[in-house]
Amino acid sequence: MMGARGGDSSVAASLWKMRTMIVWFSVASLACTALMYVAVGPWVESNIRARFDSWYPKKIEVRARHQPPWRDRPDRDDNRNIEFPGLEQILERATMPNRTIIVTTLNQAWAQPNTMIHLFLESFRSGEDIAHYLDHLVIVALDQVAYDRCRELHTLCYMLKTEGVDFSGEKFFMTEDYLRMMWRRIYFLKHVLQMGYSFIFTDADVMWFRDPFPRFDKDADFQMACDKYTGIPEDLNNLPNGGFLYARSNKRTIDFYEYWYMSRHDYPGLHDQDVLNQIKADQDFLDIGLRLRFLDTYVFSGFCEVSKDLEQVCTMHANCCTGLHRKLNDLRLVMEDWKRFNLLAYQSKRHQRIYWRAPRQCLLSFGGQP
Ligand SMILES: *[C@@H]1O[C@H](CO)[C@@H](O)[C@H](O)[C@H]1NC(C)=O
Repeated sequence: MMGARGGDSSVAASLWKMRTMIVWFSVASLACTALMYVAVGPWVESNIRARFDSWYPKKIEVRARHQPPWRDRPDRDDNRNIEFPGLEQILERATMPNRTIIVTTLNQAWAQPNTMIHLFLESFRSGEDIAHYLDHLVIVALDQVAYDRCRELHTLCYMLKTEGVDFSGEKFFMTEDYLRMMWRRIYFLKHVLQMGYSFIFTDADVMWFRDPFPRFDKDADFQMACDKYTGIPEDLNNLPNGGFLYARSNKRTIDFYEYWYMSRHDYPGLHDQDVLNQIKADQDFLDIGLRLRFLDTYVFSGFCEVSKDLEQVCTMHANCCTGLHRKLNDLRLVMEDWKRFNLLAYQSKRHQRIYWRAPRQCLLSFGGQP
């Protein structure tokens, strides 16, 4: 047994040597592989991926206009906190429990004493149980004067800076600065969606009377008021107005805002809602799968198409009107009529019908305005 063990031990020793060599070899080759991977791995991987992609070509683009495909563009939104400092905190303070906020924009002209912003805020207070929505309203100031004024009137103010543009004057419809202001707004709202907040965007020349939420479509992603309503919420022939809209934060609405914002380059000189009118039948747009609905002017009304029914109306927009002075005059009539209507209701005199007196001066506007 012992002799046999001596022979065994030399076999065992050479086995052990081999095992050691194998171990060392494995360790060395593993180390080499790791080193190589660190050094050239990404390059190899991208080459393999490129070849793989050429075997399985991507879906053919119906419209060749957007090269490279807009969806593949790198997301440059990592610097959001630098670009919109303090926004996160304001939204946290403003949000309803279901991550919904109300947003409006304000410039110097609309911030003057007894002008638009006063009427706007007053409409919440004299509306039907909607004053609590002021706690969720973020006023986005476009210049320093508007911001200071906001701080006097309201708690949730955010200063939105734009390089090289003076937003302080009354922006005449379709001037270059006016357009930049509109697009800056779209860009800002895109970021709000990306931060996970749904919102109602409302222009400050929209008077609020009743809670709009019960009137929204429960399944829609994006709902928008109209200048002219065809009677069908899905109908793309509706003439939308971006002055009042409700957007739920999800992948489709974020893609949609990205696409909308990007499309401004394809239609230079066009207003955001005119661009929306152009792109709403694009294949790129349809591919997003956005559930888009238009809001009935019977409920979400405006001077372009005035709701006849004060029992139903939620909002009234001073659209189809140019000139701050005209807007203010007609919106004051609107607020007076709304208060008269409520007084009658309070006195149980509902049989006495009230009709809107507005638009009056706005009828003298040239052209149309959102
Ligand atoms: C979000 O909350 C507000 C306030 O409670 C409510 O009125 C609104 O209907 C809610 N929205 C959704 C989509 O649930």
